[in-house]
Amino acid sequence: MNQSPNQQINQSPIKGLGAIVMAAGLGKRMRSKLAKVLHPVAGRPMVLYAVELAERLTGEGVAVVVGYQGEQVQAVIESHRAAMTRRTGYDKGQAPPIMFVQQEQQLGTGHAVMQARAAFARAHGGPADAYVILNGDTPLLTDATVQDLLRLHEDEHATVTMLTAILKDPTGYGRVVRHKEDERVLRIVEDRDATPAELRLREINAGTYVVNGSFLFEALDKLEPQNVQKEYYLTDIVGLAVERGLKVAAMVARDAEECLGINSRQQLAVAEQVVRRQIRTRWMQAGVTLHDPDTTWIDAEVDIGRDTVLYPHVTLEGRTTVGEDCVIRSHTRITDSVLGHRVMVQDCCVIREARLEENTTVGPFAHLRPGSVVRRAAKVGNFVEMKKADLGEESKANHLSYLGDARIGKGVNIGSGTITCNYDGFRKHETVIEDEVFVGSDAQLIAPVTVGRGAVVAAGSTLTQDVPPDALAIGRAPQVNRPGWAARRRALQAAGTSPDNGRMANPVAPRPKPLAARGAKAKKRRKK
Ligand code: UD1
Ligand code: CA
Repeated sequence: MNQSPNQQINQSPIKGLGAIVMAAGLGKRMRSKLAKVLHPVAGRPMVLYAVELAERLTGEGVAVVVGYQGEQVQAVIESHRAAMTRRTGYDKGQAPPIMFVQQEQQLGTGHAVMQARAAFARAHGGPADAYVILNGDTPLLTDATVQDLLRLHEDEHATVTMLTAILKDPTGYGRVVRHKEDERVLRIVEDRDATPAELRLREINAGTYVVNGSFLFEALDKLEPQNVQKEYYLTDIVGLAVERGLKVAAMVARDAEECLGINSRQQLAVAEQVVRRQIRTRWMQAGVTLHDPDTTWIDAEVDIGRDTVLYPHVTLEGRTTVGEDCVIRSHTRITDSVLGHRVMVQDCCVIREARLEENTTVGPFAHLRPGSVVRRAAKVGNFVEMKKADLGEESKANHLSYLGDARIGKGVNIGSGTITCNYDGFRKHETVIEDEVFVGSDAQLIAPVTVGRGAVVAAGSTLTQDVPPDALAIGRAPQVNRPGWAARRRALQAAGTSPDNGRMANPVAPRPKPLAARGAKAKKRRKK
């Protein structure tokens, strides 16, 4: 595994700090069938950004409030955690527990957080000392900012500490209402409930809070859905704390961009751009060359080795790992695949769930489908498609082939145009080609079939039987030469007679016998 600059999980979890991620809403403004928090940003569902951030900070567990498509949200988080454990040895014992909390009806953010109370009571016999509460739709937020917020919360001995940002266009966000003179935070007013004067306020609530455990759930019990949306607003706890003379602290984010909450597809596109830019910067800092960063697409969970070079318009998706000193040329898309060191992928390849060992060469225009393995120093050339095919060390399939359900040994030459006929219309069958076999061009291997070690398959053969080791297999019609045939045809053409009047159409067929010999005249006579 490469030295990954991807953020490590759980570096310094804070004891007594619980985390709550709100992820139950549909996200109406997305106009989608998919729950908003499942929409991917740089290839990973948005909710994972908040959940991972929470995991890194908390020592007391993360409650994820799910509702709309809750089962899917839960499955995405669980499978992500399992993958992290497999990939990085992320220790299950040390990782904070994730508790999934159901919010059956989405009655607002305050109502969402309320649902987490029982989970913490079950896990710890009562509330945590403090909670960090995160919106599930704010993927740009960084650890550093939340850590600053936690520090401020402690330094100020605050009951509630909130993250704010100053935006040019605050439309849609809750506004921070401060005291006219001493600028204390007084309350948060939602966009839809705000007066025209409040709408002009440019300081917004980022939806990231630190709240004391003893205050949080007690305050939530007091919430009333007295607003335009008839919802229980979490944001109302700010005003409640102020009314009781409790300290409310606010930190203005240095980088307002981090506070982007995704409510619409436009905001999703903005987040996508920002995250992708961050990813590219991170890999360049880690020693990867990007010839044209703006057109290079690298998903969040991709790993790339040092001195690898990515040409313009390369896309690396999913959980792809690329080794060191690789070169990936333009218009290639690699998804969920593993590339060793010094792999060369030429232009316009599509590679998915494949493994390319070190020193392999692929493309241009190769299609490697799931289960393809290209072993050390093997070559896959242009217009070759592989599926569940294992091409052995130093073997070559350089041109125009389909290799499906095939096990191919070491040092094999797969001639141009070779096809493994793996499908009989009902089932798939396997082709086995042992070490050092030479398959001539344009061979069809009708599976199941095995070509023994060191055998030669003649060009143009159609194999229907196994070939013993070291044998020559020829499976094609024998050649016939007809001396003078072409010249005779030219002569007929010159005389204005069609050469294809039945007599010359098939140069290999036996010459037609004279009509008389076939008794045609006799037949005619009989009819008369
Ligand atoms: C919220 C804040 C707003 C802030 C903005 C920052 C409230 C009332 N308003 O508004 O002040 O400026 O975030 O982005 O909190 N959710 C649930 N259950 C629900 C409702 C929402 O789990 O019943 C989840 C959503 O899935 C989402 C998050 O809470 O992840 C925020 O909800 P959303 O509807 O986007 O709130 P905003 O209107 O953006
Ligand atoms: Ca939002």
